[in-house]
Amino acid sequence: MLVKIIAVATQKGGVGKTSSTINLGTALALAGQRVLVVDLDPQAQAGTALGLNLSSEDQLARSLGWAIQGRLQGMRMDLASIWFDRTELVAGFEGSGSLHLLACEESTMTAAQDLIHKRGYQATPVLRRMLLETASEFDFVLIDTPPAVSSMSATALAAADFVLTVCMPEYPSLKGAAATRGTVRYVKDRTGGECEPRYLGAIVNRSNPPSKWRVQEVNIRNGMLDADLAPFRTDIRLDNRISDSFAFGIPAVVRFASHAPGRMYGELMNQVLVRMRQPQEDWETPERIETEMLGV
Ligand SMILES: Nc1ncnc2c1ncn2[C@@H]1O[C@H](COP(=O)(O)OP(=O)(O)O)[C@@H](O)[C@H]1O
Ligand SMILES: [Mg+2]
Repeated sequence: MLVKIIAVATQKGGVGKTSSTINLGTALALAGQRVLVVDLDPQAQAGTALGLNLSSEDQLARSLGWAIQGRLQGMRMDLASIWFDRTELVAGFEGSGSLHLLACEESTMTAAQDLIHKRGYQATPVLRRMLLETASEFDFVLIDTPPAVSSMSATALAAADFVLTVCMPEYPSLKGAAATRGTVRYVKDRTGGECEPRYLGAIVNRSNPPSKWRVQEVNIRNGMLDADLAPFRTDIRLDNRISDSFAFGIPAVVRFASHAPGRMYGELMNQVLVRMRQPQEDWETPERIETEMLGV
């Protein structure tokens, strides 16, 4: 099987990109897949969530930002020598696969971002090239991206075969997801045809149970359908077990594998996998909701 590269992106910060990336990636590893999580956000939260912070001696030598800079300057950089094996997180589960991390460190990633910015769109395929050369031992690569429009988020989209966006039931995050969805359409032109990511849908994160929906949440859910964001049928509910797990460096899908977090991300993972094989007209999305149904 060819490696499939998935970027999780939206312009808005704090909506759940990192949580979605590490929990979906880990869910795939629990399901037996060989997974590489790539941390492109200078804040390095994906590493923290997977229990890894670069030690001071590793900061330069094993940071992805350094490798990207080297590659842009024409050096051969071997990603296999810098990624971290985090398989221990899933090893206790029967039938699990493997989990690796390309870790981020702020100063090197910021410098890499500046370098790509200076060189313009033709530099954005750099990460895709590096991954295609070295990541063939994985089934899935999941890329966590920085918020806001930057050369690094453009690099993540260019690297991807598929793009997931994340939306909370609030207006600003709907706008951020729609902007990202629009940007995906331009990647092919901007990279001279080299990169052609396919939009795969929006994860509704931090949602409320239907009994608590108010008009705003209903409008946003319908707005996601209208904006062609193709939300998935399974939401990720607001759940403190997901946020608390950050502090433990163990994803919620591992700590609560047989509870709601494990179940929600497991269902979402299956829907993501189905969509990869289908044309968009066959995708299942939630039904439209009429506000009269709320009784408010
Ligand atoms: N479904 C959820 N339920 C509860 N807390 C969540 C959920 N998703 C994310 N969070 C918390 O919200 C904050 C922002 O999420 P994060 O994944 O870091 O977003 P981003 O990467 O988009 O900035 C974090 O503190 C995270 O733990
Ligand atoms: Mg993040």
